[in-house]
Amino acid sequence: MSHNTFGHLFRVTTWGESHGPALGCVVDGCPPGIRFTLDEIQSYMDKRKPGQSRFVTQRREDDIVKVLSGVMLDEDGVTMTTTGTPISMLIDNTDQRSKDYGEIAKRYRPGHADYAYDVKYGIRDYRGGGRSSARETAARVAAGALARKVLPGVTVRAALTQIGKHRINRANWDWAQINENPFFCPDAEMVPVWEDYLDGIRKAGSSIGAVIEVVAENVPAGLGAPIYSKLDQDIASLLMSINAVKGVEIGDGFQSAELSGEENADEMRMGNDGQPLFLSNHAGGLLGGISTGQPIVARFAVKPTSSILTERQSIDSSGNNVDVRTKGRHDPCVGIRAAPIGEAMVACALADHYLRDRGQTGRQR
Ligand SMILES: Cc1cc2nc3c(=O)[nH]c(=O)nc-3n(C[C@H](O)[C@H](O)[C@H](O)COP(=O)(O)O)c2cc1C
Repeated sequence: MSHNTFGHLFRVTTWGESHGPALGCVVDGCPPGIRFTLDEIQSYMDKRKPGQSRFVTQRREDDIVKVLSGVMLDEDGVTMTTTGTPISMLIDNTDQRSKDYGEIAKRYRPGHADYAYDVKYGIRDYRGGGRSSARETAARVAAGALARKVLPGVTVRAALTQIGKHRINRANWDWAQINENPFFCPDAEMVPVWEDYLDGIRKAGSSIGAVIEVVAENVPAGLGAPIYSKLDQDIASLLMSINAVKGVEIGDGFQSAELSGEENADEMRMGNDGQPLFLSNHAGGLLGGISTGQPIVARFAVKPTSSILTERQSIDSSGNNVDVRTKGRHDPCVGIRAAPIGEAMVACALADHYLRDRGQTGRQR
């Protein structure tokens, strides 16, 4: 199974399965001299880890990251400095319960990768989905935390904007709210609505989809490259690589189809500080595949969790019709835990393009 690596200069390889002893990543190409602490990495891991509220899976994984290589530890015993050599990070799997999955060893769970993996490889790790399990995304979050350290002054944040048919009121958007509720929701008024709604979904053993918006601020103008290395292209590709993602938009995305040329094109003026000023941001901070200095805005849609308690029709590997009911512990809305993963993927894309831009233009932006 090849294709476990992404990025050109900030190059991330992830490895491991949900039911092996551990999983992790190797980041090759991280510049030397980047200083960070394990607590900084861990703070992002904690946002993704299970068991944080009743609205996410009750699996217990501490997701403690160990840094195995590529750094030197300071005398303070906590600060690490990258040496420019490959940085290997490891996360132990501490809550594998193969018995939860025993019944579906030969049955294809609808909506999962089971059938497609069998067709392609002729073998599949049925214990929790193996490599197709979103457990793999823990390693991406670790890599993303490091990517942030490569990007001076850049902020990458994600917020849920929709669960099921319930959309936030964008007029209420307050970034301070995303750490105050279990949904990364920027609209305080929507929180009780989502709570009631998801309680119903959870108690029924069902699931629902979500939309997540990722915003990167203070991204210098000039990152990205035409034609086959557009920054929007790479962001879209990395967001689409996240499990259960079925749609990605940049800026106004699919809404752009409803806009006229007058409405859509972001007008410009010179600002009082002598810097160019955009009067709107329909383009999501990207023109011609290159960052404009405006906030980069990407959105992705996550499908409902496929593992649900209701019996669904399927087939088994011997060609029999079967009914499948997925027991075990699952997220009623995987979109919630996808938010920190989306941030990580955008951070990795930006770090990669930041380094590529320096290599290509010789400029320190
Ligand atoms: C954070 C996260 C957690 C997930 N947990 C589950 C889960 O508990 N049960 C499930 O059916 N799918 C879960 N998924 C989705 C599956 O991994 C995914 O749908 C499956 O591997 C098939 O791949 P695809 O949907 O990308 O085609 C999760 C996705 C994410 C992003």
